[in-house]
Parts: sequence; C-alpha cells; structure tokens
Amino acid sequence: MDSTLEVRKAAIPDVKGIHALLMQAAVKGQLLPRALAYLYSHVRNFFVLVENGEMIACCALAPVWEDLAEVCSLVVREDMRGRGLGRVAVEACVAECAELGIRRVFALTYQEKFFNHIGFATVEKDVLPQKIWADCVHCPKYPDCDEFAVLRVLE
Ligand SMILES: CC(C)(COP(=O)(O)OP(=O)(O)OC[C@H]1O[C@@H](n2cnc3c(N)ncnc32)[C@H](O)[C@@H]1OP(=O)(O)O)[C@@H](O)C(=O)NCCC(=O)NCCS
Repeated sequence: MDSTLEVRKAAIPDVKGIHALLMQAAVKGQLLPRALAYLYSHVRNFFVLVENGEMIACCALAPVWEDLAEVCSLVVREDMRGRGLGRVAVEACVAECAELGIRRVFALTYQEKFFNHIGFATVEKDVLPQKIWADCVHCPKYPDCDEFAVLRVLE
C-alpha cells in the first residue's frame, strides 16, 4: 500500500468528488446514483481515500437500527482497483461500527464475491427487516431486488 494513502472522514469540500466517483459507477449500473443534495446531507456518513491529493475511493456507513448498519456507496476509482483499497474503505466503516457500538454490518450489492472475500456472509434479505421497512420499500426495484445481501457480525 502506498505510504501517501490517507483514509479519513469526508468533509463538505469532498462532496463533488464523491458525486463524480459515484456517477462513474452508477452509469455502469454498479450502484445507485446519489444526488448532490443527498450527499451534502449524508456527508458525515462518508469516508474518503486520498492519495497524492486525489480522491481515489469512497464508502459510507449508515446506521439503520440499534444493532445494524449498512456499508453503501462504495467505489474505488477504476484505475485504482485491485490494490486492496476497497477492503481498506470497508474496514474503515467496520471500525466505525465498533466505535458506535453496532455489531452487525451489511451491504446490498452486486459485488457478492468481493464482500465474501473480506469476511461478509451472503444472507437472505429478510434477515434485514429494518432496512426493508425503511428504504427498500421506496426503491423502484422492490420487491424484485437482484442485489445480494451480505452481512458481517463483529466480535
Ligand atoms: C467492488 C470494489 C469496491 C472492489 O474494490 P478493489 O479495491 O478492487 O478491491 P480490493 O483490491 O480491496 O479487493 C480485496 C480482496 O477482494 C478480492 N476481490 C475484489 N473483487 C473481487 C471479486 N469481484 N470477486 C472475488 N474477489 C474479489 C481481491 O482479490 C482482494 O483479495 P486479496 O486481499 O486476497 O488480494 C471495486 O471493484 C468497485 O469500486 N466496483 C464498482 C462499484 C461497486 O460495485 N461497488 C460496490 C457497491 S456495494
């Protein structure tokens, strides 16, 4: 890993960079696009990875319930993939779960194998009822979601 890599919570000046990263993946159908207004109001959920002054990855942790949080909006810039950065971004979210006192962290994703590789188990979506009540019911794909639910339970 490059020693100039910085992993930190996002701040307002990062929002346009996060938006650009998410849009690059969203136009390929890899994740949901997010509007700038959404990103400004959720900026405190985000981590960014910065190398040589450039944002190369982002990821967000969204608490959903008293013992459940979601890892979402995970993108590594295309030319930076395969260097361990996705794992670093997810682990930053997992570490924050521990700080918040949350033991169960999940993602809804097309990247099932990546998440399995870094310690998340594939589960049925109905083990995440709070997510379904709060968000999924408003999604145009509901109830025919083709994403995989993956879950890690922290020690
Ligand atoms: C998914 C994504 C974040 C992975 O990022 P990355 O930086 O390339 O992944 P890493 O290099 O950290 O991979 C960590 C490990 O998972 C493995 N891995 C990565 N992608 C994998 C895949 N599709 N299938 C199986 N294993 C995979 C890597 O080989 C690596 O293993 P190792 O530690 O034993 O060497 C990246 O491909 C991406 O941004 N995709 C587009 C957006 C997206 O789909 N986001 C997920 C939405 S929830």
